[in-house]
Amino acid sequence: MKIGIFDSGVGGLTILKELIRKNKYHEYIYIGDTKNLPYGNSTIENLKKYSDTIINYFIKKRCDLVIIACGTISSNLSNYLKEKHKIKIIDIITPTIDYIVNKNYKNIGLIATNMTIQSNKIASSLTKHNINVITNPAPKLVDLIEKNLMNKKESIKILKEYLAPFQNKNLDLLILGCTHYPIIKKQISSLIKTQLYDMAYPISSLIEDGAILKVQLYFTKLNNDILKNVINILNCKYKIEELKL
Ligand code: DGL
Repeated sequence: MKIGIFDSGVGGLTILKELIRKNKYHEYIYIGDTKNLPYGNSTIENLKKYSDTIINYFIKKRCDLVIIACGTISSNLSNYLKEKHKIKIIDIITPTIDYIVNKNYKNIGLIATNMTIQSNKIASSLTKHNINVITNPAPKLVDLIEKNLMNKKESIKILKEYLAPFQNKNLDLLILGCTHYPIIKKQISSLIKTQLYDMAYPISSLIEDGAILKVQLYFTKLNNDILKNVINILNCKYKIEELKL
């Protein structure tokens, strides 16, 4: 199967990594739209434009399936994109909601981008199931992760502030509602004791097994920080190039 997978940057690689770990060996075309990053501080109008362009590219490349490996696009535009494009599309928020409502959780934290929190998609779905949800946006994290700055003292201070509303709240789970955040799971776990939920967990059960792995990575703007992140995240063979869309 040929699968198109996209995000604003390197975050979606956490989804791809999990698919590969679960032996979902397929031909993957990954697009990180780093030219337009961060999506989480953008507008619905712009996000529609970016994701339409990327999905049209996947259709042109004859992909069989598209995975929206971005919490921001999944929570704001999954219905719009699924209705508009004639290709099978999987978002990462629907499986997250399904996974959580099927457990006996009572008290959930959600840290995500501005646009994901504003969409209210996760919180409103969980509240309907009598789950209490505490949310906090973390608008600076994506940039810091993309620029490899999360080892700096100032970045840890910012992260600590973002995590403060979740401390000592007896949470069953803290949802990492942006696919960039699992990249800094170690830093997050060192600051908060709560169990962390990575949106990659339920995705592999939605994809059938395959036999041959081929990974082509495209970034709409490629630089050394991206290359460094890719090396740290993925440990498979891949080709990487800049793509003008
Ligand atoms: N990885 C994207 C997400 O899951 C990041 C969005 C952004 O670029 O702000 O929301």
